[in-house]
Order: sequence, then C-alpha cells, then structure tokens
Amino acid sequence: MIRVGIVGCGHIGTVHSFALAQLRKAGLVDAAVVATHDDSRPRAEALARHHPGAVVHDDVRSLVGAVDAVWVCTWTAAHLEVVRAAVAQRRAVFCEKPLAPTAAQAREVAALLGEVPHQVGLVLRHAPVFARLAELAASGREGRLLAVTFRDDQYFPIQGIYGSTWRKDVGRAGGGTLLEHSIHDVDVLRWIAGADPEWVSASVRAVAGYAGIEDVATVLLHFPSCEATLTSVWHQVTSRPSTRRVEVFCEHAVCSTDDDHLGPIEVQRAGGTETLVADPPEWVSRLSVPEVLAKPLALYAEPAKAFLDALADHGEAARGWPDVTVAMVAHEIVEAAYASARAGGAPVPVGALEEP
Ligand SMILES: NC(=O)c1ccc[n+]([C@@H]2O[C@H](COP(=O)([O-])OP(=O)(O)OC[C@H]3O[C@@H](n4cnc5c(N)ncnc54)[C@H](O)[C@@H]3O)[C@@H](O)[C@H]2O)c1
Repeated sequence: MIRVGIVGCGHIGTVHSFALAQLRKAGLVDAAVVATHDDSRPRAEALARHHPGAVVHDDVRSLVGAVDAVWVCTWTAAHLEVVRAAVAQRRAVFCEKPLAPTAAQAREVAALLGEVPHQVGLVLRHAPVFARLAELAASGREGRLLAVTFRDDQYFPIQGIYGSTWRKDVGRAGGGTLLEHSIHDVDVLRWIAGADPEWVSASVRAVAGYAGIEDVATVLLHFPSCEATLTSVWHQVTSRPSTRRVEVFCEHAVCSTDDDHLGPIEVQRAGGTETLVADPPEWVSRLSVPEVLAKPLALYAEPAKAFLDALADHGEAARGWPDVTVAMVAHEIVEAAYASARAGGAPVPVGALEEP
C-alpha cells in the first residue's frame, strides 16, 4: 500500500483528501492517507478524521518520514520548503501549482522535484474536454487552426469557498489571477496550439487594490500554429461559479465550450452544428458519491489515480503527468506575460528561462 501524507489541509488539501478517500473506498488504488500536517493543527485534525488511523504530525519532517508520497497543498510560497523536506527523504511528491511565487523559486522547486517521482497539480491536463479540443485542433480534420480565445473568470478568491486570504498577498501568492489561476489556462492553450508560444504581449491591472495582485489580465499569445487570447478576471460576483469559456477557430469549424471538464463542445460547421460530449473515465461510476458529485470529483481523482498507478507500477522510476517540464513552460509563459505588461504590452519572447 502507498502511504500518502497531505501537507496543507485547506481548500485544495480537502479536495485531494476527499478524492483519495473515494478512490481507496472504491478499491481503485492501493493507497491511503496516513498522515496530515498543517500550520493550523485543527485543519490537519479535521482532515485526518476522514482517514481511519491517520496521524496528525506537528512537523513536516516527521510526516515525510511516515509516508511514501507527499501531497503538497500549502499556499504557494510554502511549496519550496515542503518539497525540499520531501525530496531530502526521497519521497514521491504531488505538488500543487503554481510551483512557487517567483520564476526563480519555481526553478528551484522544479529542480528538486526532478530528483523524485512527481506530478504537478495542473489538473486540466486530465480534463477530457481539453484532450478532445487538442486532438481536434491537431487532427487537421476541420482545416488549419486559426485562433483560440480563452476567457476565465471567478470571484476574487479570498471569500466564498476560499476560506483564506493569502491570495491578496503577493508574498505568498506571487501574483494574481494570471499566476495563481490562469497558469492552468496558458498550459491548456499551449496544449491546444500544439507548441510553445513564440512571444506574448500582455496587460494587467489591480482593480481591487492589492499591490502586485492583478485581478484583470489580457494576454495575446503568438503560436507558430495560431493566435490566441486569454482574458482572466477576478471580479466580485460571488454568486457566479468559477467559469471558463474556450473557442477554437479552425478553417472549417468553430468549436466552443463553457465547461472545463467534460464539455459539451459545440462544433459549428457550414453544414450545421454538432454537439460533442467528453466522457469521464469509466471507473467514475464505481465511486460511492452521487453522479452529480462524482463527475466534478473526477477532475481531481483522475490525476491522483494516474500518479498512484504510476507509483504502484514503476516505484522510484515513476513519472507523473504533467511533470515539472510542463509546469515550467507554463511558468515561463506567465513570466513573459508579466514582463510584457511591465513594458507596456511589448512582445516578449518565451523561452528565456532555463529548462529544469
Ligand atoms: N490545482 C487546482 O485546481 C488548485 C485549486 C486551488 C488551489 N490550488 C493551489 O493549492 C495551494 C493551496 O491553495 P488553497 O486554496 O488550498 O489554500 P488554503 O489557504 O485553503 O490552504 C492552504 C493551507 O496551507 C497551510 N500552510 C501554509 N503554509 C504551511 C506550511 N509551511 N506548512 C504546513 N501548512 C501550511 C495553511 O495553514 C492552510 O491551511 C495553492 O498553491 C493554490 O494555488 C490549486
């Protein structure tokens, strides 16, 4: 059995905890959460209660000593110290995105993760809807790819389901909507475009007034295959769920979706419109939660299962997906966008950062 420890027992730590518990209960993985740690002990205790026999550790090193794999779910600025502790004891690591608040620190985290089996929480890489869009764009069936528009909006995540305020603190978050949230989106855009952008041009603003925390960002990404735009917004409409809309323009089809997990995708061609639905993994029906919960949970359960399966099959040689190579390119694109914004929107080539 793979012994898992969760460090950081807040919002996403709780989601991962639930996904891991469900996978275990359904017999889909031979793994269990046996340890938790959080600077806030009550949070670690609350999470441990959902895993029979799990031990709350007051110190990250003692947790690492008691597990085979560490789920790093602290706020972004603490990822480095937790990853360092895990890698010092050669443990496998699932590390949340962004890797770190700054590109320099992200490189440090990536170099450490590169030494052990690891996976990064860019979970949209496991979303069937984007796999379908990327396949569609790459296939050429609808003609050449022309452009992609990506709109991502959510309420400023220091309220509502986000029971924490660190996202308004540049020291702990590193940036606002672009780094903290839309690092997922630039990664998906790169996936759909099938290549890295050659340059980006960006503009950001901090309307809510938190220094260094942009809540409006627009990015133009120039790919070898197409042009793409990203609009990323943190607003104050607390009744509205976190939403992504993606439109992929090919010569002979316009494909759009308003859902970042399963779709549907509307494909409009000269002859009419087709609706495509992306399916979740077949094992989702074996989870013992209602379907309405099981499907969204799969967005986190699927990457966890993939990583645990890789660890079970390959041990120390396991490679999770996405790994730091993927994550570092996403960091590089975000960094280039910030550099462009500082330069008044001037195009900034992507690729100045070194590969880990
Ligand atoms: N992949 C995704 O879809 C996704 C979604 C949400 C958040 N995230 C990422 O997950 C991370 C956590 O976000 P969150 O929303 O869960 O935040 P949160 O504030 O809800 O939880 C973070 C927890 O980390 C704890 N913590 C901070 N430093 C610590 C340390 N050094 N040791 C132990 N515990 C520590 C805090 O006490 C807190 O309980 C962030 O990096 C965020 O970007 C990813």
